[in-house]
Amino acid sequence: QKHLLGLADYSADDILYVLEQAKTFREVLDRPVPKIPTLRDKTIVNLFYENSTRTRLSFELAQKRMGADVVNFSAGTSSAKKGESLKDTIRNISSMKIDMVVSRHESPGVPHFLTRCVEAAIINAGDGAHEHPTQALLDMFTIQQIHPELKGKKVAIIGDISHSRVVRSNIIGLKKVGADVVVCGPKSLMPRFTESLGASVSYNLEETLAWCDIAMALRIQMERIKGGTDLFPSVREYHETFGIKMEHLEKFPDFMVMHPGPINRGVEMESEVADSERAVILNQVTNGVAVRMAVLYLLSGGDRT
Ligand code: CP
Repeated sequence: QKHLLGLADYSADDILYVLEQAKTFREVLDRPVPKIPTLRDKTIVNLFYENSTRTRLSFELAQKRMGADVVNFSAGTSSAKKGESLKDTIRNISSMKIDMVVSRHESPGVPHFLTRCVEAAIINAGDGAHEHPTQALLDMFTIQQIHPELKGKKVAIIGDISHSRVVRSNIIGLKKVGADVVVCGPKSLMPRFTESLGASVSYNLEETLAWCDIAMALRIQMERIKGGTDLFPSVREYHETFGIKMEHLEKFPDFMVMHPGPINRGVEMESEVADSERAVILNQVTNGVAVRMAVLYLLSGGDRT
């Protein structure tokens, strides 16, 4: 593959190969000098039109750990503010001789558009509510650390399904590798597309938690919920009905808790749940660096034997 636009374009073998490569890079991160200069001849631009903490910093760290030359573009401090188009922006940046672009944008399809503008390899770091493939890869890597065989694992994705790019990439990826996926949340935040991707739907949190091996909570994206009015029917009631609580950890002792971040503490889960031993949320963040190193390595022409 030249690009990583979405997991829809990747086969189960492609996904499992990235995860296998990421194991090597995860070991590198634990070394006293966590560097492996395999991208010394590459120049990468991180093109961020939307805010990010985890994705942006972990891509940048991954690139620096691998010895790449890195430049960061933030729309808010760029000539995009003067009205420069996305096409002109990327073509100008490309003229400075770059090899790879990591793109985050509020509009679905922007990474695909970029492939038609420049020769560089494009990595999707989140495009609107469409896909966030490296997030799903790092989520699958984290699940593998607990359950090495993904096939047959029961993954519940709970929360704001409607506005989530993480849910789409996770359903696509998890189904390809043979996991079972249930999405759970209020009807007002439950789109139709999940069933066509092979996920089952539940509106009952307790039944879902009793069933699953992994409970992945998703952020309630207040900024994308128009006026906050279509949330069921308030943040307080959402937490009462769909928030993961300490009592759930006691009642159902088997499931682990994940969240892509950022967390709304006291909404998607009680704060104590996020900080409990059942949560692997910070492991997801650490693994994100390794998974992004693997993606950069493979797309830059790293061996696939
Ligand atoms: N999970 C995730 O994409 O977080 P950021 O928005 O902080 O990058």
